[in-house]
Amino acid sequence: MKRGTILFVLLGAVLVAGTVYTLMNRPPAEDLSRQERVLQIFDKGGCLACHSAEPELPFYFKMPVADKIMQQDIDSGYRAFNIEPLMEALATGEKPSMVDVAKVEQVAIEKRMPMAKYYLVHWGSQMTAAKSEIIVGWARELRAAYYADDAAEVRAGEPVRPIPQSVETDAAKVELGRKLYHDTRLSVNNTVSCASCHDLSTAGVDNKQYSEGVAGQKGGVNAPTVYNALYNFVQFWDGRAATLADQAAGPPLNPVEMASTSFDEIIAKLAKDKWYVETFNSLYADGITQANITNAIEEFERTLITPNSRFDKWLRGDDAALSADEIEGYELFKEYNCATCHVGVNLGGESYELMGLRKHYFADRGLELTEEDNGRYKQTQQERDRHRFKVPGLRNVELTWPYYHDGTRQTLEEAVRDMAIYQSGVELTDEECAKVVAFLKTLTGEFEGKPLTNANMQ
Ligand code: HEC
Ligand code: HEC
Ligand code: HEC
Repeated sequence: MKRGTILFVLLGAVLVAGTVYTLMNRPPAEDLSRQERVLQIFDKGGCLACHSAEPELPFYFKMPVADKIMQQDIDSGYRAFNIEPLMEALATGEKPSMVDVAKVEQVAIEKRMPMAKYYLVHWGSQMTAAKSEIIVGWARELRAAYYADDAAEVRAGEPVRPIPQSVETDAAKVELGRKLYHDTRLSVNNTVSCASCHDLSTAGVDNKQYSEGVAGQKGGVNAPTVYNALYNFVQFWDGRAATLADQAAGPPLNPVEMASTSFDEIIAKLAKDKWYVETFNSLYADGITQANITNAIEEFERTLITPNSRFDKWLRGDDAALSADEIEGYELFKEYNCATCHVGVNLGGESYELMGLRKHYFADRGLELTEEDNGRYKQTQQERDRHRFKVPGLRNVELTWPYYHDGTRQTLEEAVRDMAIYQSGVELTDEECAKVVAFLKTLTGEFEGKPLTNANMQ
């Protein structure tokens, strides 16, 4: 064959391959439901190959070199994200985790998944603009339906949601819970109450790295705020309490917090107080019990919401509620993946996430590892859960320093800058950092109709 002919044939082959490639990458058929189309994109995209516990491996996994590269991608892919619960929810029509939804939406917007080395081998798997649009549309639609809150229509697709104006509670139980919350008799020597570490006038925190319990004893982890804690899917950094009532059963008997030896001891003390006896008897058939004490405290904590922050006003459609810098800060918050973990009403509290996803946080910290640093692993003993923490909510975050489970970041600037490095893999410029902080400060809300403040703030 002449050289010209060979070139012509080669060119033809490239063109045919290109056409086949494009055809294979077509988005799913329009007559499928949005849900089915998203599922098909995940299926074809090979997402399960790198984001599930026991992936089905492709044929070339048996080849040397290829297997090592692939194994690395599977390991770090599964470490970063497990897509199985989301695909299952899609298949069964159940409500998916809004964290998972935000995560796949973000990689679809960036067309970051699957990566080139995968889609160049697995034709049809590439995230094209058309597929990305389907996923983004699905995520927005899902949020509008899922939350059904009072966000303005133009903001109904936002990953961050407004706090409702009120939560239904039983007023008499709330009053009882309020009294118990502030009662030092829950502690062994009548010196410490819940409010000692979660004072409502200091934003529900003590602004200390580690809290001080009876006789000045210190715990090993930073105290989160009680405001908006009802929006957390579980309580504590390691999620060991399923409900606020379960949580409230912990501190009274914790040896370094309130150090009572048993609830019987507490009940005996409360039973000497006529008001408690009468109130418990009027509200609960079985009077003063551990379950009723913690139930009343939970009921009280359900009133600790902080609606009407400037950001929530903006979500409800008040464009003037935020400055241009604050809006840019929110845009950066989404662009840099922050809103894939800090989502929903509380901007967090909906999932466990790895601390140090992009860079080894604990190696850099330079302090000895503590039991608390294990996070969720403490409860499950699953290696994958090591250093995973319940994502803290970011409401009123300007008032709740110091930051992180280890209380090592004093200022919000430091906390934000390091989040970007360790969780998002970016270094913020000073200007970007200032804008994100400005946005976070718009999340400070109102408690009982007045702006929430912290008496410890100069
Ligand atoms: C060949 C393996 C591979 C495939 C296929 C793959 N991923 Fe990934 N994925 C990774 C790796 C590795 C990471 C972590 C590092 C990174 O983000 O680049 C990751 C990270 C992610 C994350 C976490 C977000 C983040 O910022 O780290 C999400 C969400 C994700 N992938 C979704 C998907 C979806 C959806 C698909 C299918 C359309 C997919 N991936 C296909 C390997 C893969
Ligand atoms: C000595 C200080 C101290 C006392 C007293 C105390 N707490 Fe806490 N609280 C903490 C610390 C520290 C944590 C975090 C512990 C962890 O996650 O392992 C915490 C966690 C919590 C959480 C979980 C918040 C979240 O986001 O996970 C709630 C809710 C809470 N406390 C309410 C209470 C109530 C109610 C009482 C009284 C029954 C109480 N606390 C007594 C220090 C204290
Ligand atoms: C992969 C999930 C993930 C991403 C992405 C992420 N965060 Fe976080 N964020 C966490 C976790 C987990 C913690 C708790 C870490 C700890 O205590 O060690 C946290 C803690 C914080 C805190 C401290 C809150 C407190 O009360 O201690 C702030 C502020 C924060 N994040 C802001 C951001 C910002 C801003 C971004 C984006 C630049 C971001 N986060 C990205 C998961 C994430």
